[in-house]
Amino acid sequence: MNNLNNISKGFSNAVSQWYLSSGRNNLPWRKKVTPYKVWISEIMLQQTQVNTVIPFYKKFITKYPNLKSISDTTEDDILALWSGLGFYRRAKNIFKTKEIIKNKYNNKFPKKFQELILLPGIGKSTAGAIMSIAYGESYPILDANVKRVISRFDNIDMENKEAIKTLWLLSETYTPSKNIFEYTQGIMDLGATICQLRAPRCSDCPLKVTCKSSFKKFHLIKKDRKQKLNKKINFILAHSKESFLLFRKNERSFWESLWIPYDKENKERSNIFKKPVKSKTKKFNHALSHIDLNITLEIFEYKEPFKIKTKLEHEWVNKDKINEFGLPKPIKSIIENYA
Ligand code: ADE
Repeated sequence: MNNLNNISKGFSNAVSQWYLSSGRNNLPWRKKVTPYKVWISEIMLQQTQVNTVIPFYKKFITKYPNLKSISDTTEDDILALWSGLGFYRRAKNIFKTKEIIKNKYNNKFPKKFQELILLPGIGKSTAGAIMSIAYGESYPILDANVKRVISRFDNIDMENKEAIKTLWLLSETYTPSKNIFEYTQGIMDLGATICQLRAPRCSDCPLKVTCKSSFKKFHLIKKDRKQKLNKKINFILAHSKESFLLFRKNERSFWESLWIPYDKENKERSNIFKKPVKSKTKKFNHALSHIDLNITLEIFEYKEPFKIKTKLEHEWVNKDKINEFGLPKPIKSIIENYA
């Protein structure tokens, strides 16, 4: 066996063995594994930490445990369950993908990498995760955790233009043909729990002897982050005792398709609001990944819901029904906490 083969066997064996003894084998998506459940969990985990995902995943799987149960669901139903998890494009992609699976694959989850990678929201790494975790087939993955483990193990300069290409090649090399479930989950867990960004716990790492960066100090250089945009939003939240007036956000940017208060940017030709019985103003900030929002919320109280003259999609939503609508986190918590 040549040297590279030896190293990669050593790497993958160490990771798989470590997973069995020290991996997070209690995570809900690792029990009673199905391709459908792996897909939902991988989409949720794309931009969100494990601990945040867990309650959302459990709620989602309780309501929609399999493809059959989700097959006739509306995009709104999925957005409602996604409410508060952020990056709502992912929920819309779940809707699109389940429609494709219903119409093109007879509601059977596709089994081929080449089919998976064509589905909305599924890139090379997510398709690799589904192939390896759900089907036990040897496919590499390269999410943020895996990038960190491999780049440190091989001392790859991440500033190099070719770094990602190199990391994919290395990930392929290390991906074993056996024990692929344990290996794939293991390398993700190793990145999350041992090979951490700031303070890696090298003494507990199964790769410490061969890793080119073990026990190295990482001085994290603060990258010149792109200046975050600031956006001012002026909302009007009209409500009666029981109901809140919400509008569908159509614009293709953050919170797309969610239900929000009236945005004054809409500039209706005439004032669509009657004079409220009471009004007050709340100001707060909400940070999205790429924009900081400065929100001014005028809260208008009315005796009863009233008819609104507007072309915008809108609804008076009873407070008890708020969970059936997809709302951004800060708006949902204002409504939920409203006395
Ligand atoms: N991050 C992405 N996929 C994951 C998984 N299956 N388990 C833990 N963390 C993950």
